Amino acid sequence: MTQRRVLASSTGAAHARILGLGAYRPSVVVPNADLIERIDSTDEWIQQRSGIRQRRWADPEESVRVMGTAAARQAIERAGLDARQIDTVIVATISHLMQTPALATLIAHDLGTDQAAAFDISAACAGFCHGVSLASDLVRAGSAGHVLVIGVERLTDLTDPDDRGTAFIFADGAGAAVVGPSDTPGIAPVVWGSDGEQYDLIRQREDWRDVVASDSPVMPHLVMQGNAVFRWASFAMAKIGLQALDRAGIGVDELDCFVPHQANMRITDAMARSMKLPDTVRIARDIVDQGNTSAASIPLALERMYADGDARSGDTALLIAFGAGLAYAAQVVVLP
Ligand SMILES: CC(C)(COP(=O)(O)OP(=O)(O)OC[C@H]1O[C@@H](n2cnc3c(N)ncnc32)[C@H](O)[C@@H]1OP(=O)(O)O)[C@@H](O)C(=O)NCCC(=O)NCCS
Repeated sequence: MTQRRVLASSTGAAHARILGLGAYRPSVVVPNADLIERIDSTDEWIQQRSGIRQRRWADPEESVRVMGTAAARQAIERAGLDARQIDTVIVATISHLMQTPALATLIAHDLGTDQAAAFDISAACAGFCHGVSLASDLVRAGSAGHVLVIGVERLTDLTDPDDRGTAFIFADGAGAAVVGPSDTPGIAPVVWGSDGEQYDLIRQREDWRDVVASDSPVMPHLVMQGNAVFRWASFAMAKIGLQALDRAGIGVDELDCFVPHQANMRITDAMARSMKLPDTVRIARDIVDQGNTSAASIPLALERMYADGDARSGDTALLIAFGAGLAYAAQVVVLP
C-alpha cells in the first residue's frame, strides 16, 4: 500500500490589524451649482436628498493608477514600513477600464514591490471591506506578511453627466490601508454576503460587446434604481452592522466611530437610527464634500475623521460597505 503524503500547511500571525491608512483626493472640486443646470436640479434638492454639497473629480492626469499609488504610498509611510515589505497588493475597483491585467500589478510595480502578489477584486462599493477581510485572513493564515488594500475609483468615466439619478452622486478618489500582524485582535470577523436577485439595481448599463455593436458607441455608464437601493441599504444594512458588532463581541456603547460607505447621507442617518447608535459614536460624513467614491469611500471618510479629530488611534470603528451586486461586507476594526 502506498502511504498518503501529508502536505505542509501554513500558519500566520495570531491576529491582524490595520497599521496605516492613506488617501488621495483628486484636484477638481465641483460644487452642486456646476451640475444643476444639466440635470435640471437644484443645490437644495441635492443637499436635502443626498447630503452632497460638492464632490471631487479627477483631472485627466489623475488616473486610477496615479491616485491608487498616491494613497498607497501614504498608507505605507504611516504604517512605518518600506514598500518592499509589502508582499500582497489587493485593489478594489470597478473603474480600471482595462479588463486585464489587474491594476494591482501596475501599482505594485510603481511602489517598487514587484515581487508582491497583486490582484484586483470586484465588489463595487463593498470592495474595500472585502479587501480588509481578505487581508486579515491572509496575514493570519500565513499567506502574506503585510497586505496593501487599495480602494480606488474614477467613477466619472462611468457616469452619464445627463443622468439625474447618478450624475450628482458619483465621484473620484482613492484610499488605502496596510494590514499586518498584531499581538492583539485588530480586525474582527467579517459579516458579508450578496443578493444576486437584486443584480439589476446598480449596474453597468450594457456590456462591452453591446457598446461595440452600437452605431454611436458611448461608455457603458452606471445605471441605478436609486429608490430601491435606498430602501435596501437603509434597512437591511443596519442589521448587518449589528451582526458585525455582535461578531466583534462589543455593544454599540463600546463603539467609537461609525464609518459606513458614503453612499448617501440619508442612508447613513437611517442606519445610525436603526442601530440605535448613542450620541457618543462619531459618524463619518465625508460625502458632503467628496461625493460617493464607491470602493474608495471608507478610507477617504476615515482620513477626514482623523483630520477633524473625530478618529483617534485605538478607537473602535464599525466599517460597513454595500453596493452593486448587491454585495456587502462589515467588520469592526481598531484604528491605527
Ligand atoms: C438618487 C436619490 C438621491 C434619489 O432620491 P429619491 O428620493 O429616491 O428620488 P426619486 O427618484 O424617487 O424621485 C423623486 C422626485 O425627485 C425628482 N428627481 C429625481 N432626480 C432629481 C434630481 N437630480 N434633481 C431634482 N429632482 C430630481 C424626480 O423626478 C421625482 O419627482 P416627482 O416626485 O415629481 O416625480 C436616492 O434614491 C438615493 O440616494 N438612493 C441611493 C443611491 C445610492 O446611495 N447609491 C449608491 C449605493 S452604492
